[in-house]
Amino acid sequence: MFKIPFLDLPPLRSAAGTVRLPGSKSISNRVLLLAALSEGQTVVRDLLASDDTAVMLESLRTLGCGVWRDGDAVVIDGLGSRLRAKQAKLFLGNAGTAMRPLTAALAVLAATQGGEFEVSGVPRMHERPIGDLVDALRGLGCAIDDLGNPGYPPLRLRGPSALALDAPVRVRGDVSSQFLTALLLALPLVAGFEAPNPPEGVPPARGGPAPGRDIRIEVIGELISKPYIEITLALLARFGIAVKREGWSAFVIPAGSRYVSPGEVFVEGDASSASYFVGLGAIAAVDAPIRIEGVGSESLQGDVRFAEAAAAMGAVVQTGPNWLEVRRGAWPLKGITLDCNHIPDAAMTLTVMALYADGPTTLTNIASWRVKETDRIAAMATELRKLGASVDEGPDWIRVQPLRDWRAASIHTYDDHRVAMCFSLAAFNGLVTDAAVPVRIQEPHCVAKTFPDYFETLFGVVTARAEDIPVITIDGPTASGKGTLADEVGKALGFGVLDSGALYRVTGLAARRAGLDLDDGPAVAALVPTLELRFSGGQVFLGPEDVSARLRAEATGLLASQVAVHPEVRQALHQLQLDFRRLPGLVADGRDMGTAIFPDAALKVFLTASAATRAERRYKQLISKGNSTTIEGLREDLEARDERDKNRSASPLAPAQDAQLLDNSALSIEASVEQVLNWWQKRRPF
Ligand code: DC
Repeated sequence: MFKIPFLDLPPLRSAAGTVRLPGSKSISNRVLLLAALSEGQTVVRDLLASDDTAVMLESLRTLGCGVWRDGDAVVIDGLGSRLRAKQAKLFLGNAGTAMRPLTAALAVLAATQGGEFEVSGVPRMHERPIGDLVDALRGLGCAIDDLGNPGYPPLRLRGPSALALDAPVRVRGDVSSQFLTALLLALPLVAGFEAPNPPEGVPPARGGPAPGRDIRIEVIGELISKPYIEITLALLARFGIAVKREGWSAFVIPAGSRYVSPGEVFVEGDASSASYFVGLGAIAAVDAPIRIEGVGSESLQGDVRFAEAAAAMGAVVQTGPNWLEVRRGAWPLKGITLDCNHIPDAAMTLTVMALYADGPTTLTNIASWRVKETDRIAAMATELRKLGASVDEGPDWIRVQPLRDWRAASIHTYDDHRVAMCFSLAAFNGLVTDAAVPVRIQEPHCVAKTFPDYFETLFGVVTARAEDIPVITIDGPTASGKGTLADEVGKALGFGVLDSGALYRVTGLAARRAGLDLDDGPAVAALVPTLELRFSGGQVFLGPEDVSARLRAEATGLLASQVAVHPEVRQALHQLQLDFRRLPGLVADGRDMGTAIFPDAALKVFLTASAATRAERRYKQLISKGNSTTIEGLREDLEARDERDKNRSASPLAPAQDAQLLDNSALSIEASVEQVLNWWQKRRPF
């Protein structure tokens, strides 16, 4: 996958429509691990496809689980609590939801069945604490080696070793609730422990082999992020483990507990991801609501309660069992003070909503932000300030003042999906200031951690003014390399591409097929609205037919050049071309993109190359496709087309007055792309 270095969001104005959320990350990775530890096969539906689930799936494969796809579902053939691989090195990226529970499960399995496992991740993962979990597991009797800084991954989990299962397992709950989740997921593996065929060297559990025993987990300190523990308990129940809970301070896994696959599991939508669309609705859904499908009043995830926080800021929220509808209520939004311990991830979204409020917004009890994908309090404060906002922060709180004088900012995302998604909401600044500014999101691909097509989904439900959507035009004569340059520039910026020549080509082709006289402008123009054109994945369809290859033929180019002389035809194709101006931006190539179609384009490039160079390039292209031709013949054709394109009265081929001229006769494609991107960067306010 090509990763663009940044994505520029033009000022956005309104929102309406329906989004379907990707599966919840927390539920996805828990379900995968539970399925892997269970007896039997589990069909997992609506699983989130993302970086974090990919590392979990890969780890399960390494551990000997059967993992395969069946249509949209993932099927896991569980280990039934028995290790198939006794040694493995697992790379877990930056997935806390994989690191913590796998550490606990493998530590316990290595202790009881023997084995040696290493778990590691990206550098940031090695800065995220795991010491409280390691301490709890060591207290239980697991052998764990620090391979880096004590208290942080990477770790080695060794066994066999004797487990002290009679005493309560104690774990701190005030840094991350994932430590408790990890123990809750791992300890059922030994609640029914009998070691039917104890491997050589495996000592019996202290207290002698038993038919199983209650395992008690005690939480030290105030447990944070309780809703995530509720998810864990609900999923454990689905896999056959009925944990008994004493308030939030003690949990008992009953003797004889054993993982059993429920057969099929549906993963609900990601409630944290819903927060961006709830925020979007609160800010910009004026005429019609934003409907969010995949979470609702029956969701397991605590982050659905984000909707209440949004409502407190003024949003109008309606809920159904698995949907939410949100629209703007109060405007400006209302500043709030909120303890966010129950919605730690979603609450980040409130800090950007706060920019649109009538007074300060203060979020408290959010110390856990500091140990997430990045230090999220510092990250949000730093990046909000770049927009011009006034922000105060403390060890476990943040306060954001409303913003009126917005600055165009390039937002650093710290490889944190939520930072990237949150700041997309800053693009609505045009709703509170006349001087609307674009927002640059650096490394936007980091959203792949939980929501790989977040920006596409966002663009599907928001509007911008056409004049705010940036256009780069690349005009020039035949075979100057416009198409390639436009494609590459589009790819680098994440912009769409309009190959306007294809529209003239398809018109020429269709006119010829219809037996029209190509010199009859009005007749050819009348054909245009009847064409069933579809552009999909770089291909052009005319009705059901993929005509892409036909369009590229030299003969079709000549037909195009013939029909293109008619003002009626150019007029008939005008609106079609304007319709390509879509979020987040457009690169348009042709003859009159900068002069007639997009005269307000922010960057206009006129690309030339000598006739000799162009003939040679086209020659190589055609020969490589197995067509026979001569350079001389090609050059004559090119020059004839240049003449016609330049000398016709309707939109003749000529550089726009404000165009940048680029002669690429002696330039590589990369050098041309770089030149255009440099010009582009100079025109950006970042
Ligand atoms: O860029 P191309 O070779 O695909 O264009 C084919 C013909 O279409 C070209 O000879 C002139 C015409 N054309 C045009 O007149 N205006 C455009 N914007 C694009 C193409």
